[in-house]
Amino acid sequence: MTPRVALIGANGHGRWHRRRIAELRAGGIVSLVGLADVQPIDPAPDVPAFTDHRELLTATQPDVVVICTPPHTHLPIALDALRAGCDLLLEKPPVTSPADHETLLTALQSTGRSCQVGFQALGSVAWSRFRDALSPKTTGLTAVASWKRDDTYYARSPWAGRRMVGGRPVVDGALVNPLAHAVMQALAAGAAAGAGRPRQLEVERYRVRPIEVEDTAFARITFETGLPLLVAVTLAGEDFIAGEIEARGPDGTAVLEYPTDRLALPGSGHTDSARLDSGLPGSEAARSDLAGFEAPDSGLIEVPGRTDLLADLLRHRAEGTPLLVPLEATADFTAVLEALTMPEAPEPQLLNSSTVAVEGPNRTIPGINALLRRAAAELRLPSELGVPWATTPYRRRLPVM
Ligand SMILES: NC(=O)c1ccc[n+]([C@@H]2O[C@H](COP(=O)([O-])OP(=O)(O)OC[C@H]3O[C@@H](n4cnc5c(N)ncnc54)[C@H](O)[C@@H]3O)[C@@H](O)[C@H]2O)c1
Repeated sequence: MTPRVALIGANGHGRWHRRRIAELRAGGIVSLVGLADVQPIDPAPDVPAFTDHRELLTATQPDVVVICTPPHTHLPIALDALRAGCDLLLEKPPVTSPADHETLLTALQSTGRSCQVGFQALGSVAWSRFRDALSPKTTGLTAVASWKRDDTYYARSPWAGRRMVGGRPVVDGALVNPLAHAVMQALAAGAAAGAGRPRQLEVERYRVRPIEVEDTAFARITFETGLPLLVAVTLAGEDFIAGEIEARGPDGTAVLEYPTDRLALPGSGHTDSARLDSGLPGSEAARSDLAGFEAPDSGLIEVPGRTDLLADLLRHRAEGTPLLVPLEATADFTAVLEALTMPEAPEPQLLNSSTVAVEGPNRTIPGINALLRRAAAELRLPSELGVPWATTPYRRRLPVM
């Protein structure tokens, strides 16, 4: 029988899910039985719409529910859907604490249902090739991304830029929401390299506008074997860096641009030696260095092919194949997320006008791209690189879940 699919959270990124479900529906692979959103759904659907997800579950009896609501609402909705007998495609970040992770895991076990988490870049062929190139000989991992998000981004939703809503962490910081894929992919790379679990987090977080979370962050995560991962990301960037995961080893460096599925493996011609020489923010050498990392010269080659996570969940239901991103695979990500939302975690440092360039709704940190590159190259945090506006790193041992 054609699986009955419902979507909870139908605006925002939910529109992307609507398009994907429409394709599967057109192919006769699923039927869409209903949508739920607390706001009016735009564009209006041609299936029943509900403002309460529990009414949707009762009225439409779905087999599979896609949950694309704000992070702090995921757990109660997921538990309701499991109780209604549904399998889940749950958007990232799946939950906001290891305790919630355990609660959801227990519910999955007791109901016998399945949960795929929406880290869609883990379904790419490029990722599987990159992962296969990793080994215990890997000496360092990095994740770098430079995006721009203007004032409208933070005005789009009541939870945007917020740390807590209604007493619950919503975790909209760059590390755990917009650039969560970079963190998740890099953590998965550590596991694939045989480095064990991440044990230590050292992080510096910054913001260029008065939001409650970071828009710029540098985090060093050390795995059980001592393998270091340096994550350097910003939403106040200069030139766009889509998101690059690098793994260094004795044979060279493997690079995965995860949003575009472009890849360079050791021996394929990609070289990053120029990156390693980059200077401090503001230096001309550092800026011109970045020019060498545009797509045509990067040596990155597109490796097409992604398995859609909903299609993968449907196959899992039909044939028992393993899920690409089961909830269990996100435990380390959630441990990092919680460390950032603990009450003792310092607020992200608000950078002042001498560090931030403001142009209309846009805010940029001049020299930030070079700093991201340098931090990654040296596996060091801004405070260790002598950056004048750097804050003291927050250090925390990560729980093993
Ligand atoms: N996988 C990805 O690449 C990706 C990209 C963007 C967003 N996301 C994730 O998708 C989720 C939603 O993000 P967004 O940017 O679309 O947020 P959003 O705020 O723009 O949209 C969320 C929608 O959920 C609705 N909603 C809120 N509470 C609800 C409830 N209790 N029941 C039903 N509907 C409810 C809101 O009205 C809104 O329409 C987040 O977890 C986010 O991290 C994932």
